[in-house]
Amino acid sequence: MLAIGSQFSNHFNQKPSLVVKSPGRINLIGEHTDYNHGFVLPAAIDKYIEVAIGKRTDGAIHMVALDLGETIILPIHNLTPQATQWVNYIIGVVDQVFNSKENNVDSIENNTTLNETKLVAGFNICVQGNIPLGAGLSSSAALECAVLFALNELYDLSFSRMQMALMAQAAEHRFAGVKCGIMDMFASLHGQKNKAILLDCDSLAFTYYPIELKDYSIVLFDTQIKHALASSEYNTRRLECEQGLKIIQEKYASVKTFRDISIEQVEACLVSKIYQRCKYVVEEIARVQLAVQDLAKGDMQAFGKKMFETHAGLSNLYEVSCPELDFLVEAVANNENVLGARMMGGGFGGCTINIIKNTAVEEIIKALSAKYNQAMHKELSYYITSIEDGTHLVA
Ligand code: GLA
Repeated sequence: MLAIGSQFSNHFNQKPSLVVKSPGRINLIGEHTDYNHGFVLPAAIDKYIEVAIGKRTDGAIHMVALDLGETIILPIHNLTPQATQWVNYIIGVVDQVFNSKENNVDSIENNTTLNETKLVAGFNICVQGNIPLGAGLSSSAALECAVLFALNELYDLSFSRMQMALMAQAAEHRFAGVKCGIMDMFASLHGQKNKAILLDCDSLAFTYYPIELKDYSIVLFDTQIKHALASSEYNTRRLECEQGLKIIQEKYASVKTFRDISIEQVEACLVSKIYQRCKYVVEEIARVQLAVQDLAKGDMQAFGKKMFETHAGLSNLYEVSCPELDFLVEAVANNENVLGARMMGGGFGGCTINIIKNTAVEEIIKALSAKYNQAMHKELSYYITSIEDGTHLVA
């Protein structure tokens, strides 16, 4: 396949001004905690969205999805969500550049009128990538971050990486309709080679943790399920947590966020589904804090055990798993060569993340593929991942 720069030149008869690569992400532990003021532990991976970009002069945006063979042209002004989803990830961040203040990205001091003047002439953009779509590896966040990073460089907009993460998150809310947390965009923009990042989703402070797996590898098993309910159920979980928080706050005035809630308070105030959701969140927030202590001590056995606990909580209490994800986790649960496994990301499909002994990886892939195929009548895909740097310019 031709490099993206040449494809851009062929398409637009113009050399791209720059090329940007933005990675997908894994999350070691801390699921559905980002929008609940908890902690997450993601890392950027060796799968990317690439964009090549160049300026125009006629106030239009020409967008080409190379992998899909689709081209869409829109005027840069008064952008609104479109029927073609990949387009929304691009124009959603353009809208943010124009309206970042209005959209409550509070920390952004940039002069939006000035940005509007800079961007108003439009741009050409080509997109391609190798992040499997709908596999829970955040291809959409990677696209948003790649476009925003490219615009930031091209037009000298001076947004910080954290500001861009917040803007990409707001773009996803407004243009894709998913009320996601900040983890995916944060991880894509802040990734560092061989490091996971503990993000405090309340203060947005973050710490890098070296990941030295030595005899182990991170392997993702892809269910190949792209659940249609994923985004609507995701938004429902978010609402259920907000409801639970509100009920607890009515009784305990000192509680500001999920970070202040104890299991006793959950037990005392909540029932049924809301109880289950909030119990999981409170437990998971505590679990991540213990898991990073395991990491710091190099105790990967203890870390892996917590991954299995997270899966149990996501499956039984938070109810965002599916039979295929449960099957893949259960199938490796008693394997001495697997330190930990759990469903990863929003849920209802996508991948499990597994920490597997190098010498056993091949054999486990083979056995699990056969079992999965037999039980679910589906092909199992897998990705042996490495942890890489975040969004960057390509020379
Ligand atoms: C999706 C969202 C993230 C996060 C995870 C669950 O990936 O985009 O913000 O909430 O689900 O942890």
